[in-house]
Amino acid sequence: MTNIVIVGSGYVGLTTGSCLALLGNVVTCVDSDSERVKSLRNGRIPFFEEGIDGLVRDGVTQGRLSFTDDLEASISQAEMVFLCLPTPELPDGSADLSSVRAVLTTITRLVAKDAIIVYKSTIPINSLRLLKAWLSRSDVHFVSNPEFLREGSAVHDFLHPERIVIGGEDNHAMQRVCELYASLGGERILTDNTSAETIKYVSNAYLAMKISFVNEVSRFCGAVGANIGDVISGLASDSRMGSSHFSPGPGWGGSCFPKDTKALLHMSESSGFDFNLVRATIQSNDAHMVHIASRIVQVLAHMERQDDARVSILGLTFKAHTDDIRFSPALRIATLLRQHVHYLSGYDPLFQKSLKEFDIVSDDLYQALTGTDLAVVTTEWPEFKTLDAARARKLMRGDVFFDTRNVLDQTALSESGLRVLMVSSRL
Ligand code: UGA
Repeated sequence: MTNIVIVGSGYVGLTTGSCLALLGNVVTCVDSDSERVKSLRNGRIPFFEEGIDGLVRDGVTQGRLSFTDDLEASISQAEMVFLCLPTPELPDGSADLSSVRAVLTTITRLVAKDAIIVYKSTIPINSLRLLKAWLSRSDVHFVSNPEFLREGSAVHDFLHPERIVIGGEDNHAMQRVCELYASLGGERILTDNTSAETIKYVSNAYLAMKISFVNEVSRFCGAVGANIGDVISGLASDSRMGSSHFSPGPGWGGSCFPKDTKALLHMSESSGFDFNLVRATIQSNDAHMVHIASRIVQVLAHMERQDDARVSILGLTFKAHTDDIRFSPALRIATLLRQHVHYLSGYDPLFQKSLKEFDIVSDDLYQALTGTDLAVVTTEWPEFKTLDAARARKLMRGDVFFDTRNVLDQTALSESGLRVLMVSSRL
């Protein structure tokens, strides 16, 4: 059992904290947002993440998990301090480390001798010297332990890792971090800090590149008349390529891929390396969203609906199974469409607040479809696969579904007189 303090109670911090409590440790989750702490103490999770509520409840009931906004009071007992803080993007693409700096300078005099600072936050490669300077303590060790959690399946990913990466300078400290995960599977990769930090950035860049590749393949299939579903099966069944992150979509988004690819490009530029593939991946992703918006505008033009076009967007978050709209492709497409359509409605199973891009964000799928000429499916929620096509046909003014995720039941929709277009369809 280790006494752990987790700094930052977002989806990474809360998942890490509640899972480490489940594994038998005593965990205090710290967050500077006292409202968030209050709601966590009352068992309310401030965001949607599958399975986390039960885990938090169990941890609290068993006395292994607690929440506080008092960083200074909690730190001196900690054997390990996990940094799970946001490192958002600055205008030049670099990462903003101000929260990390603020925490390290605050705990300088409080953290115990021989404590281990484990950083899960994605920090720029080779920032260790900065972290050390901010903490100014030679008797405390820094270990990089990047997270590979996907929003929506973070608890599952934590408890079933494929690899655990631990980077550090002190073998004993690295072993102690390794022991935390002793009961979990997956490969252990013990390395230095720089390599661990690099693994994190290039993993996200590779996955983003894989998606952009398949998105371009999708458009290429449209150009040559190939069947995208069969082409993906042909690729994904080869274990050298693998099936993950091979589903075409409206482009990748979220709080990680856009930020991390830009930061990687920024780091490569400042170290004199031209990371062409990463630059091309970022450009390809934006071009893909622009392409989708212009295809929709073209379809509306064919329907002679330029002036009073009415469009609905189904799925507002950056992917299904989350309520997170950060860097959501749906919102980028909505912004691009806004100047071409008269009315834009939106629907999402989890995100239901109003948004400036939309005339209405509805909590009802069929209300969002009502009176629209064209519906765009931007996330892969199961309820879109099973939507009532006959009802949709009656409510819509037009007859087109633009399925950017290839998830709709095309037979059911066409039997109801609806047309389904995909990125890979020929116009
Ligand atoms: C991603 C990584 O998958 C995690 O390993 C990593 O820990 C995390 O970033 C992070 O750095 O914190 P996440 O952003 O939650 O996780 O979501 P993903 O499921 O990877 O999806 C990212 C984007 O790619 C989404 O917009 C998603 O819709 C899109 N995507 C994903 C596709 O378009 N097709 C796919 O086949 C997979």
